[in-house]
Amino acid sequence: MDSTPDDADERRALLARAWDEAAPRYEQYFVPRFTPWVASAVATIAGATLPAGPILVPCCGTFPELPALRNSHPRREIIGIDLSPEMVRWARQRATGLPRVRVVVGDATTLRPQWTNVAAGIVSVFGLQQLPDPASALADWIGTVRPGGRLSVMFWPSESETDGPFALLRRLLAGRRPPPDDAWQNRLGEVITAAGATVEREEYLTYPMHHPDAATFWTAITDGGSLRALSIMRGKTFMRALRQEFLDLAPPEPWHHSPRAQWIVAQR
Ligand SMILES: C[S@@+](CC[C@H](N)C(=O)[O-])C[C@H]1O[C@@H](n2cnc3c(N)ncnc32)[C@H](O)[C@@H]1O
Repeated sequence: MDSTPDDADERRALLARAWDEAAPRYEQYFVPRFTPWVASAVATIAGATLPAGPILVPCCGTFPELPALRNSHPRREIIGIDLSPEMVRWARQRATGLPRVRVVVGDATTLRPQWTNVAAGIVSVFGLQQLPDPASALADWIGTVRPGGRLSVMFWPSESETDGPFALLRRLLAGRRPPPDDAWQNRLGEVITAAGATVEREEYLTYPMHHPDAATFWTAITDGGSLRALSIMRGKTFMRALRQEFLDLAPPEPWHHSPRAQWIVAQR
């Protein structure tokens, strides 16, 4: 039995490599399916009156947050930050021709040393749950935002559904890796308050998602999604057995489900 590497540098290197490899399929398969969550997370920043300063987008991946942010804040600097150089390359393509948009390779676990009290806002979608200590990262992000600024953070909780492909994967992996430490998910409100911000929303957002069949979903999540890192770590034999079990238990033909993401909005 394994798990993610103990060493923080190794873990970071594994994630960077996994998302480098995943980038093209992630953009093609998951970005369209994640659109409603991205739109909700961005809308609360896009529609807000913000203080001066840039909008930071930690864990931007291929940067699907960018178009709506750009439309609503055309004169503001928008900075995407991601660990994976390949994701950053895709994000820069999305930003081509847009002035005042930058995308940098960087570790989003600590942004404060570089951006203390300067940002107008933060939007982050589906990155927080991948960070080694999400609660500390969130506190750090609050420290980058000016008074009056706003944070909108969407992430996958460890249990995003009770039925559907994410639930089935969670069930199959439960016996194969140590249980994730998910206590942080329930204390984000207090973390935000302690860091000097006010929670405006803390809720789950559920949208429908569709997959042509289980095999297509499997290829997408292992080649272009969050299981890419597991696949690199555990190798072909392990993944082949897991795939077979997954397909045996999955419904035949199209798969429709409605996962929920956790969303937190705070005002500094
Ligand atoms: C699921 S993708 C989400 C991308 C995008 N925000 C979206 O909504 O489609 C997660 C991204 O988080 C990035 N990531 C993971 N750990 C990170 C870290 N420590 N610092 C910066 N980015 C990180 C990955 O490289 C990946 O691009």
